[in-house]
Amino acid sequence: MIERTSPPCTIDDMMYAPTLHVVENPAELASFAADFVVERARTAVAERGCFVVALAGGGTPKPVYEQLAHAERVAAIDWERVHVFFGDERCVPPADEQSNFRMAREALLEHVPLPEVNIHRMLGEVDPEVAAVTCEQQLKQLFRCERPAIDLVLLGIGGDGHTASLFPGTAAVRERERLVVAQYVDKLASWRVTFTPVLLDAAHEVLFLAEGAGKASVIREILEGTYRPDVLPSQRVQPRAGRVHWLLDRAAAGGLRETLPRVGR
Ligand code: 6PG
Repeated sequence: MIERTSPPCTIDDMMYAPTLHVVENPAELASFAADFVVERARTAVAERGCFVVALAGGGTPKPVYEQLAHAERVAAIDWERVHVFFGDERCVPPADEQSNFRMAREALLEHVPLPEVNIHRMLGEVDPEVAAVTCEQQLKQLFRCERPAIDLVLLGIGGDGHTASLFPGTAAVRERERLVVAQYVDKLASWRVTFTPVLLDAAHEVLFLAEGAGKASVIREILEGTYRPDVLPSQRVQPRAGRVHWLLDRAAAGGLRETLPRVGR
């Protein structure tokens, strides 16, 4: 695997240089991402005594969580010192098939010795504003500060350039104060609860995950197009002191101007 820090995006206001990892296929992406999480967890526990991770929803991360639940990776992490949050949630009950929590519970959380109190579920079944306030309070309580620096945030990318539940044209993308908000998404005709750019920008590291040719054009727009976060909210995620990684399979990276030599890991 050859990694490079891509040149600063040709985006006027943004001089961030994400690290781009390109792997052959979805299976490699899942395995690479799972190893990435294990490595970050071990480092955070060793350096800071605990590892706080925010899981992504949608379909791409599920195989990552299943890989992470493999015995050798489970054994490599001190789960007592891990706290799990969610970057966003659909406003449905936790047992609903649409629930990001349900997906993560089935793929990972019920297979690891993580104390229940360390799972900070976004309460999809309650009033969205209450769920947002509750999640923000849990973060501030855990970190004992107003700007919690989550160790690792996993994020997916939607075909319209959204990430978490920061959808194009919504107020959540422009939020400048709150860490977690409730957002009605017209195109989905449903409520979501989501981390805001304020919280995402405070993270130590962000790992974007995307696979498949269907994401190639939006990824090119995000990484090599002009900076227009209202249209492409993923561009808005720019951790000030943190690092941004993009993990793509060959198909999702296919639209990028400079292609990386594809070397197996
Ligand atoms: C969600 C996710 C969302 C997701 C993207 C990509 O709740 O759906 O938070 O941001 O990551 O829509 O989804 P896929 O991985 O299924 O393409």
